[in-house]
Amino acid sequence: MLSAKMQDALNTQIHEEFFSSYLYLSMAAWCESNNFDGFAHWMRMQAQEELFHAMKLYDYVNAVGGKVVLKGVDAPETKWNSPLAMFEASLAHEQFMTKNINAIVDIAHQEKDHATDNMLQWFISEQVEEEATVDSICGKLKMLGDTGHGIFMMDRELDARAAPTPPAAE
Ligand code: FEO
Repeated sequence: MLSAKMQDALNTQIHEEFFSSYLYLSMAAWCESNNFDGFAHWMRMQAQEELFHAMKLYDYVNAVGGKVVLKGVDAPETKWNSPLAMFEASLAHEQFMTKNINAIVDIAHQEKDHATDNMLQWFISEQVEEEATVDSICGKLKMLGDTGHGIFMMDRELDARAAPTPPAAE
């Protein structure tokens, strides 16, 4: 049984995950319009992964007898100055998402909601991985150079990203 506060926090996070998917799809669209096909592929996979995150929360709220209430999704940014600027925006966004998850875990602790705390631990680990991945891409783009050959190499590397698989339900 979720408290009203916990349910609201989870519904807000469902919204944030859907917004994340929309943001990454917007990044994919920007890449596609600039012929960065590998980056576009990576962003499409990321957009898909964020939908899985939203649905994991959605399924959890339903599983514990709560009510999912979807909120409107705002329009994301549509352009960035360079692939590096785009991945830096992605890193900042993931840091924001980590803060959100941590804040919801704090609520779970305050409310002694161990089931929700347990479910959210998956997101804690996921955020560590997501921040590390994007940070590494930013580092490589800085090292290789955000133009010409460096971009070409990174674009090819990120084109190899496999499709994500849905996380296990609780
Ligand atoms: Fe679902 Fe990338 O945070």
